[in-house]
Amino acid sequence: MLYSDKVMDHFEHPRNVGEIADADGVGQVGNPKCGDIMKMYLKIDDKGVITDVKFKTFGCGSAIATSSMATEMIRGKTIDEAMGLTNAAVAEALDGLPGYKMHCSVLAEEAIKAALADYYRRQGNAVPEELKLPCDGDEHSCCACR
Ligand code: FES
Repeated sequence: MLYSDKVMDHFEHPRNVGEIADADGVGQVGNPKCGDIMKMYLKIDDKGVITDVKFKTFGCGSAIATSSMATEMIRGKTIDEAMGLTNAAVAEALDGLPGYKMHCSVLAEEAIKAALADYYRRQGNAVPEELKLPCDGDEHSCCACR
């Protein structure tokens, strides 16, 4: 079987799909390998806890499954905890992805980082280095970010 049961479950029944109209942070990124796009919405309370998260994607099944799992992994977590989430940890939580689909899992990690960066900007704060994407300051040359 190419995909684990967990990947298939999150692909067929993705959690947290949609938008948050009054989101505190919104991030959109594109995958330079395939052109797929992901948008992430976060609600963050005054203690820095992620109270709600939703995503929309124009992407493949692996992108859908990893985004679904990633949203489950950061809901209720602090900003710092969400910042530390890696695509490898999301893929592991899904019992793995085929090697050639690992690049799809990067979308979720980067969309979360982009949404957190947007949150920092909206708060009038400097964006931490670890939230800066490779394309930041590069006129969006590599993807559909912001
Ligand atoms: Fe584009 Fe999977 S093929 S994200």
